[in-house]
Amino acid sequence: MNILAIESSCDETAVAIVKDGRQVLTDCIASQVDLHRIYGGVVPEIASRKHIEAIYSLADEALRKANLTRSDIDAVAVTYAPGLIGAVLVGVNFAKAVALSLGKPLIPVHHICGHIAANYLAYPELEPPFACLVVSGGHTMFVDVKDYTQMEILGGTLDDAAGECFDKVGRVLGMPYPGGAALDKTAQKGNPDKYVLPRAKMGENPFDMSFSGLKTAALNMIHHAEQVGEELDINSLCASFCGAVSDMLVPRAMQALEKTGYKKLVVAGGVAANSKIRQDLMVAAEKMDAKLYIPPLNLCGDNAAMIGAQGYYEFLAGNTADMSLNAYATKSVLGEAL
Ligand code: KG4
Ligand code: ZN
Repeated sequence: MNILAIESSCDETAVAIVKDGRQVLTDCIASQVDLHRIYGGVVPEIASRKHIEAIYSLADEALRKANLTRSDIDAVAVTYAPGLIGAVLVGVNFAKAVALSLGKPLIPVHHICGHIAANYLAYPELEPPFACLVVSGGHTMFVDVKDYTQMEILGGTLDDAAGECFDKVGRVLGMPYPGGAALDKTAQKGNPDKYVLPRAKMGENPFDMSFSGLKTAALNMIHHAEQVGEELDINSLCASFCGAVSDMLVPRAMQALEKTGYKKLVVAGGVAANSKIRQDLMVAAEKMDAKLYIPPLNLCGDNAAMIGAQGYYEFLAGNTADMSLNAYATKSVLGEAL
């Protein structure tokens, strides 16, 4: 089954064609990052307009690169939530038009379920159930993935997402948007023990976390140093920051394995590209005798192939939509509006 998949929830317009949920026939991305960089973050209206300009030709390009024609497409999958609402609407409306004109099923996909499904593309043998750490620009949580379309949230951040903190600290340090990758690279040259940053625990649920305190502590350190004319060791500040984020996530990921009893830990989302987190997870999972699944870097960030992968399993579960499908800025992976 060839699924034409569309992703437009943030600043990447993406169209992919995925066969049977596992084989990427083509994966096209038109990134707007350079455009938003001058503003230090994504400008929603610009993002929507750029999606409109790019999406049609990108879909044509996807077909051409896969050596397929429109009649080879069996269904259309699209990110319908969560994201910048104007941006998601562009993808949803385009997907509706394609599904209607081809007379094929329309499959709504939750963006975070897509991130999780990126692992099905990288690891052909991977099947649920497994414990999952989702760590992206908008989400940071632990999920019990019971089946392809059946999940339970164990807990997560009660305020900022980890990626948001990377971007904010990166911005204040003068790094280009999005700051996560640059901060990661800078951290490699630093000493992670040089600066003390907080690791917050929240309430009763061991999987709940707070990242806003860590973000504020890092920003205060930078601003204070500026005020008193002290020179910070930026490499080590970045290394200490990555260490603090990793310390918040990695032990909890091991707890998620313990709680669920699974021996498989899957990681999903843009921040899964972080070297320190990847390294620490590898060591910790090995100690637990658990198998670790992290997507290769090209499948960590936003892409449409992951939407095609999840779309296939949504289709098998009967989760298709009609032409009344709407887009949502916020929605839980459980399908509930937040
Ligand atoms: O999953 P994603 O592409 O978009 C969302 O769904 O949010 O995640 C984007 C986030 C950004 O905050 C970006 O800075 C972060 O992933 N990121 C990283 C790294 N690469 C991307 N954060 C830390 N280390 C990295 N190497
Ligand atoms: Zn994403």
